[in-house]
Amino acid sequence: MTEVARRIAEQAMNYVFNPPTAADPVIDYARPDELIAEFAASVGLAIDPHQQALAADALVGACQTIIDRSMHTTHPRFFNQNFAGPEPIAVVGDWLAAALNTTNATFEVAPVFTMMERTVITKMAGLAGYPVDAAANALPPGILCPGGSSGTLHALQLARHRLRPDVLHTGATGERLVVFVSDTAHYATLKSAALMGLGLQAVIEVDTDENGAMIAVALEAAVTQARAEGAVPFAVVATAGTTVTSAFDPLDLIADTCEAEGLWLHVDGCWGGSALFSSQHAGLMEGVHRSDSLIWNLHKMMGITQQCSVLLVKDPTQLAPVFSTKATYIFQADKQFGEYDAGDRTFHCGRRVDVLKAWLTWKTFGDDGFADRVDHGVALADHTRSKLNERPDFAVLVPGSFTNVCFVWVPPELRPLEMATIAEPDHARLHSLATRIKARMQHDGTAMIGVQPVNGINAFRLLYMNRKVATGDVDAVLDLIADYGEQEWRGTAQ
Ligand SMILES: Cc1ncc(COP(=O)(O)O)c(C=O)c1O
Repeated sequence: MTEVARRIAEQAMNYVFNPPTAADPVIDYARPDELIAEFAASVGLAIDPHQQALAADALVGACQTIIDRSMHTTHPRFFNQNFAGPEPIAVVGDWLAAALNTTNATFEVAPVFTMMERTVITKMAGLAGYPVDAAANALPPGILCPGGSSGTLHALQLARHRLRPDVLHTGATGERLVVFVSDTAHYATLKSAALMGLGLQAVIEVDTDENGAMIAVALEAAVTQARAEGAVPFAVVATAGTTVTSAFDPLDLIADTCEAEGLWLHVDGCWGGSALFSSQHAGLMEGVHRSDSLIWNLHKMMGITQQCSVLLVKDPTQLAPVFSTKATYIFQADKQFGEYDAGDRTFHCGRRVDVLKAWLTWKTFGDDGFADRVDHGVALADHTRSKLNERPDFAVLVPGSFTNVCFVWVPPELRPLEMATIAEPDHARLHSLATRIKARMQHDGTAMIGVQPVNGINAFRLLYMNRKVATGDVDAVLDLIADYGEQEWRGTAQ
């Protein structure tokens, strides 16, 4: 058994240190039935009713199939989502954490990681402009969460507790508590409201501008209207870097409203929080120091493996009253250094050690390396915007200024693109085009690029965080889209 683990570890090492290049497919595409059939020919995907122990060769073969058929997110043509290209050092940090298999709940089982988590949280809180106490025994201003959605759920629970502390004991009372979020925000707020028993209707969506950023006066109006209708506002979730267009809500203006109205301000910086690493782009986060909480995913822009989400709270004393249950079978008051335990300040019991990979990557690249990564991403997006603006066969749908670029390929008959005047069936053909092009790219393994509706039409989204992507990759991808576009547009002609 050790032998098979060693051989598979070698395969994994080989993958990490010799990842696929631009010359390789980003995916060797297979349909679900093809995957099942391929495994059936070797070890089978299902765990059999009485699963036999398999020989090393069979398992090593199966792992090769797993590698070969997986999406290569390190590949310079992978742009499908808000993560890509993990740094090898982060992968190794993840492995080491797994090898040391513990939970970051108590000091006694995670002494190093408890202290390490405190240092990373404190450093990030400082970048956000939250007050920090660097003393080793100071309460850390936050907690790592298994994902940004979990962080937002934690933050909204804190927010409700500040306004209605009794709810923790009595449960939701039927009072119509409401939270405001932009109409381009991530769905984490909706899911959190549902889980908290507030209901999806508790989430009030606020209008956004042409980039997808919340309009501050629309927020003010929405709060006034909600109060007039008898609802009780308790929080605003502002987004710093929206998932699709990487728009930044105006945090300072939103903070003014929150202060005037007594609302908790939570910032969803899952994507754009990393702008704080860069002196060139930190200005986008202006006003974040006035928020009450901030969720910031290092696993998105910083090349750290999934997941690595840091929830920062301005007042560190707020976590325990909301999440502590003082379970005596784990958080004994009289044990050594129990006051360092993180486990009674979060919803989670077992918590993966997500901090090691972040700490190791940060120490490897340093602050300057982290800043370079963000600057590189924005520079590539700027390059993309200028290339697209030069080319008559593309139209940029959202002006934008950060890492994401949303655009469509424009068929010859529709140039220059005037969305308002496109008649059917051309509108429907154009709408289906990006999805068709994407399917071709998937089948051919030439690129993986996100497609989603933007301003009512399916559009491509290129977004940048992978250090391995260079301007030449961007140009090649645009040419690729144009080639497929020509073919697919002709294919839909009547
Ligand atoms: C802006 C934003 N917020 C929140 C999330 C959710 O984060 P997670 O996937 O870690 O739950 C995402 C994920 O893409 C996101 O883009």
